[in-house]
Amino acid sequence: MADDKQLMAQVKQWILEAGEEVKRKLQDPLIVEQKSSRTDLVTNVDKETEAFLVEKIRSHYPADQILGEEGLGDKPETTDGRVWIIDPIDGTINFVKQRENFCIMIGIFEDGLGKLGFIYDVIKDEFVYGGSGTGVFLNGSPLKQIEDVPLSEGLVGVNGTMFVNNYMSTRNVGLASSGFRILGCAGLDFLHMFMSRQCAYVSNLAPWDFAAGMVIGHALGLRCSRLDGREADIIGERVPFVIATPSAYEEIQALVIAAG
Ligand code: IPD
Ligand code: CA
Ligand code: CA
Ligand code: CA
Repeated sequence: MADDKQLMAQVKQWILEAGEEVKRKLQDPLIVEQKSSRTDLVTNVDKETEAFLVEKIRSHYPADQILGEEGLGDKPETTDGRVWIIDPIDGTINFVKQRENFCIMIGIFEDGLGKLGFIYDVIKDEFVYGGSGTGVFLNGSPLKQIEDVPLSEGLVGVNGTMFVNNYMSTRNVGLASSGFRILGCAGLDFLHMFMSRQCAYVSNLAPWDFAAGMVIGHALGLRCSRLDGREADIIGERVPFVIATPSAYEEIQALVIAAG
């Protein structure tokens, strides 16, 4: 079996290849379908990108389990062995409406432990990847541990619906920060965290939205969990989720608890 560094290099190449295809396909009309509602879209590119990545994983690592947002992987019931979690296009609505502000994400876990994460902003060509064992890189340059910025001194990314409804104190968190931002792409919020452009991100996320970000975040000294403080389950349901610097994380927990 490939070691973590070899695996990182291999998966990085697959994602770069997938990104080239995505850029090429953006020149053609997209086939857009609704999933559960008019704000929950999927395109041919989401499905084709997932199919490409699933095929690569299956042909090289047939014993591994795959959880993909568009359902082309497996339905893992345990986290035993190696589990790959794929979000082929994160920020599909941005992808459809803006043709930018989306990314490709993969998280790799072994027996439930985060090994490697990959987040690739295809249009900006910003690619962050790695884990605790390998170190984390931005386009080949090592990223350092993140400075522990308090909530009052950093920007916070929020989920728009949670913010508007002050769900679990999300609006209070935004108002206690230097400013709140709504990007519509979890992966971009994670990239902002890793590049020290914001100190926290609060959203409602499925495993494929947070898997890669959680692995990389832990490796860079960030804290992340469900918003109520419980551990996030990588094969579980969509949950309110937070990633933050250690100080901002404590302050956010206090605001969530204070609101009951
Ligand atoms: C969505 C985006 C969005 C977040 C949603 C996700 P998708 O992912 O990351 O920012 O608020 O919770 O579902 O469906 O575009 O991959
Ligand atoms: Ca989706
Ligand atoms: Ca997503
Ligand atoms: Ca997606």
